[in-house]
Amino acid sequence: MNQSIQTLDVKIPALDESNYAITIGRDFLADIWTYIRAQWPKCMPFIVTDAELVKAGHLKTLLGSEKVPTYVIDPPGETSKHIRTVVAIIETMEKHFFGRDSLIIALGGGTVGDIAGFAAAIFKRGVPVVQIPTTTVSQADSSVGGKTGVDSSISKNAFGAFWQPAAVYIDVGTLSTLDDRQFRAGLVESVKHAAIADADYFAFLEQNIDAICQKDMSMLEHIALTNCRIKASVVGEDPTEKNKRRILNYGHTMGHAVESASEFKLLHGESVAIGMIAAGKIEAALGWVRDDRLERIESLLEKLRMPTRIPAELQKNTLLELLRTDKKAIGRWPRFILLESLGTTLCQDGQWAHKVSQDIVEQCLEQIY
Ligand code: GLY
Repeated sequence: MNQSIQTLDVKIPALDESNYAITIGRDFLADIWTYIRAQWPKCMPFIVTDAELVKAGHLKTLLGSEKVPTYVIDPPGETSKHIRTVVAIIETMEKHFFGRDSLIIALGGGTVGDIAGFAAAIFKRGVPVVQIPTTTVSQADSSVGGKTGVDSSISKNAFGAFWQPAAVYIDVGTLSTLDDRQFRAGLVESVKHAAIADADYFAFLEQNIDAICQKDMSMLEHIALTNCRIKASVVGEDPTEKNKRRILNYGHTMGHAVESASEFKLLHGESVAIGMIAAGKIEAALGWVRDDRLERIESLLEKLRMPTRIPAELQKNTLLELLRTDKKAIGRWPRFILLESLGTTLCQDGQWAHKVSQDIVEQCLEQIY
């Protein structure tokens, strides 16, 4: 085994059967198949991946010469994240006589993981899924924690389930083929983790952002481990997002509205970057900011070349309407995750998500065009 490989255990006290290991290393994709075969010798493996991963050679590296039934999502990305793709995966598995002894393996970014995880959650009432994330966003966030789902023709993640992975394998070497814009945008989830939970990690990102952007592999291993440690601790406490897990949505309330209003021309991470600035403006408008956190967050996001202002073509009214239809809205108005300080999320009266008046939100929106 590669000397640098590290393992982290995710413990979900409320769901005993859902404890799992996250294994992190570099350039060990070819070994992962051996680990999977050793851990699930009696399961029939079925792979879900996408056309980009196949083109980049990662499927071949994973499998070597072995032939395994595979569904290749094509085109890759959000347009395929639809219930029709899940139906196609399940019917392909049925045609190959897969049963309850199946093991689905998701090799790819967030979209592949979400689709494959949801197929696993509902195929024959649930089969295990192993996540092998290959993008900065999926290695930091979506492969851990069990959120799975696909879009309907009307809204994002309309079909979904919490379905914890049976294992997660993170090979940071796979990031070498990721294009620069996607790579940088995915790092916004690392900035998010640092901002909500770990001031030292934030300082580490500030100090090492150039090396991280140059894909220094030991830096990438370090941030993968730190992201997973933070996320696993939050998810372990609140796996089904009753309360504390909402802190992982920091920057996402406005971020999702911006992402939808841009018709997905802005990437998720780019939209969340704007959402973090919006959250900071709200904290300032409420009189809670007595430090330089907003400047530090903005400066780090700028070093990642993320937008920190809403593009002029996105109408304020469109954003307000999208905020009203946010899936976590209560009484047609969303809750916001706010910081108490850099590295600490605000919790008031036991609640981690906060009601902010429409006047304040509108005023803050105007400041970030
Ligand atoms: N991406 C936020 C969560 O997993 O809860």
